[in-house]
Amino acid sequence: MKGVILAGGLGTRLWPLTKVTNKHLLPVYNRPMIYYPLEMLVEAGIDEIMLVTGGNNAGDFLRLLGSGQEFGLRQIHFGYQEGEGGIADALSLARHFAGDDLICVVLGDNILEKSIAPFVRSFLRQGQGAKILLKKVPDPQRFGVPELNGDRVVRITEKPSRPASPYAVTGVYMYDNRVFDIIDTLSPSERGELEITDVNNRYIESNELTYNVIDGWWTDAGTIESLMRAANLVAADAGAPARLEVEMLANS
Ligand code: DAU
Repeated sequence: MKGVILAGGLGTRLWPLTKVTNKHLLPVYNRPMIYYPLEMLVEAGIDEIMLVTGGNNAGDFLRLLGSGQEFGLRQIHFGYQEGEGGIADALSLARHFAGDDLICVVLGDNILEKSIAPFVRSFLRQGQGAKILLKKVPDPQRFGVPELNGDRVVRITEKPSRPASPYAVTGVYMYDNRVFDIIDTLSPSERGELEITDVNNRYIESNELTYNVIDGWWTDAGTIESLMRAANLVAADAGAPARLEVEMLANS
């Protein structure tokens, strides 16, 4: 299986932090945001990755990641998204890279506590179609939200005002190579983007989408609040020296 990390978009919700840099180069505790999805894929045994980015700072990714060998990658490929036409538009750039292989797609601002290796193995056994990973959250209206019926996803709605379940569709998706033909048939949504949720709904319509609910914490880092939250979660995992320091300052 090959990996695709999507790190385009404008990062407007983090303005002015993203005025002179790409969102995915911002720090999350002690490392650049992009390290987390990259290491997650490598840890799951995926050592050939394409990173899609855009905007004015694309060259910085090359300087930061180099050949990718430092991260255990066999090869890293780079793609450049003109404009910000949405997640599915960014993914379409990976068509030739993917070839006939299955792919694991990760949004560059998603961080998970636990390994995705078991889900990658399960999708390799599945062999075709799609798999998504879900997480129960207190604010599902911020995300793609699945309507569930037993072990089936009935449909997914992007940022619903009345969520059909307490689950978010996380930014980790697995697809066969038909995903690119599906993207070709999509039209832009109301926000002017090719939506990954529309891609997933196509797989649901043909009864080929499976899901798993993940253990451990999961967060995006695309807003000031979630960026802060991500840093705190990573810091706590790392033994929380940052928190201790804050406590020391508060007590002094
Ligand atoms: O984090 C999970 C959520 O991500 C899902 O629950 C939603 O269904 C999915 O649509 C997405 O929602 P967001 O509105 O939070 O996505 P955002 O626009 O923040 O983009 C997430 C990442 O996708 C971003 O860090 C980089 C990549 N991206 C996004 C756009 C719009 C691109 O590479 N190119 C783009 O044009």
